[in-house]
Order: sequence, then structure tokens, then C-alpha cells
Amino acid sequence: MKVIILGSGTGSNAEAILRAERDGELGQAAVRAVFSDNESAGILSHATNYGKPAHFLSAAPYRTKLDGEAENVWINEIQAMEVDLLVLAGFMRVIKPPFLQAFDKQIINLHPSLLPSFPGLNGIRQAFEYGVKITGCTVHWVNEVVDGGAVIDQALVRVEDDDDLQALASKMHHAEHLLLPSVIRRLSVGDIQFPQ
Ligand code: GRF
Repeated sequence: MKVIILGSGTGSNAEAILRAERDGELGQAAVRAVFSDNESAGILSHATNYGKPAHFLSAAPYRTKLDGEAENVWINEIQAMEVDLLVLAGFMRVIKPPFLQAFDKQIINLHPSLLPSFPGLNGIRQAFEYGVKITGCTVHWVNEVVDGGAVIDQALVRVEDDDDLQALASKMHHAEHLLLPSVIRRLSVGDIQFPQ
């Protein structure tokens, strides 16, 4: 199962995927490349460190979506790679219908809350400020509704009374680093099915 990872930031989840592959824990999945809309994103360095192609593609002039001419470039570059699965790991752009249709039922996203609670930006902070005692992370199929596609799997994170936001974020990332590679592995060996 050929995989690409798309991200805009630190790339700790991409690193967890790449480490799992290196350690033989990613089933039949193989990461072909990492793409970022941010030229200086840490995610690109992680790709290089693990010997994977690291591609910066501009998404200008837009700031929060993939649209217009830039979207066409992204679609063409990724289609040329003939991949099976696109993993959004901290990709900070709204995906629009042309991109969704080009990779129909092939895109998964990681979100740092138990969806459908706390969609959108700052999922960890939203849950912390609400005061929930259990939160977690979600891997879901991507559709036209931001953070709204069918849930694939979730992991729980307990909020202890003495957790501050930073402590909660750290526990969340630990849970994410286990969940996302696990979902990719299970997709690759058929333990989780792609949608029909
Ligand atoms: C993760 O918390 C993920 O849930 C959210 O963005 C963050 C990306 O972190 N969508 P990283 O770049 O993988 O470290």
C-alpha cells in the first residue's frame, strides 16, 4: 500500500509513521513521499532524515485552503505517484471537492479530539477549556465537511485534575503517535476496509 503524508508543521506524527515503517511495524504500507505547503516545516526534515522524498508545494495565494491553480498542481503531482492512501498529519488547509474527487475514499485525517466533539482548530485547547475529563484523538475518512468524515478509530486520553494544557497536549501526541501508524498498518493488511 503506497502512502504519502501531507503536513504543515512539526511532523511528529509523520515521524511516528516513518519510525514504524523503519521498525517493520507498518504492515504492507510504504511511505513514498511527504508533501508540505510550508517550506520550513519540520515534517520535511523528518522525511529527509528517514530517506524519503520531501516535497514543498506552494498553496499560495490562499492561506487556509487548497484551491485554484495551486490545487491543480498538488493533484497532478500526487496523481503521478499513483499512491493508495493520503494521510493528513497536521495539514492545515481545507480540502475542496476537486481534490477530494481526485483521491476519492483515499484520504484520512488525524484530529486531536474525540470527534464529533471539538472539530476545527485547537481541538486540544477546546476540550481542555471545556473541562472534559476524557478526550482523545480520532482518525477519520476525509469528506467535504471539515473533521466530519466517518470515524475509523479513536484513542482515549484522560484529563487529570493537575494537567495543564501542555501536559494534556503531550499526552495527546503520545496517543496520536500510536493510533495513526496503527490505523495505517491495519488498512494495509485489510484489518480495516477502505470505503466502497
Ligand atoms: C496533531 O495534533 C494532529 O492531531 C493535528 O495537528 C497536529 C500535528 O502535529 N491535526 P504534528 O505536526 O504531527 O507534530
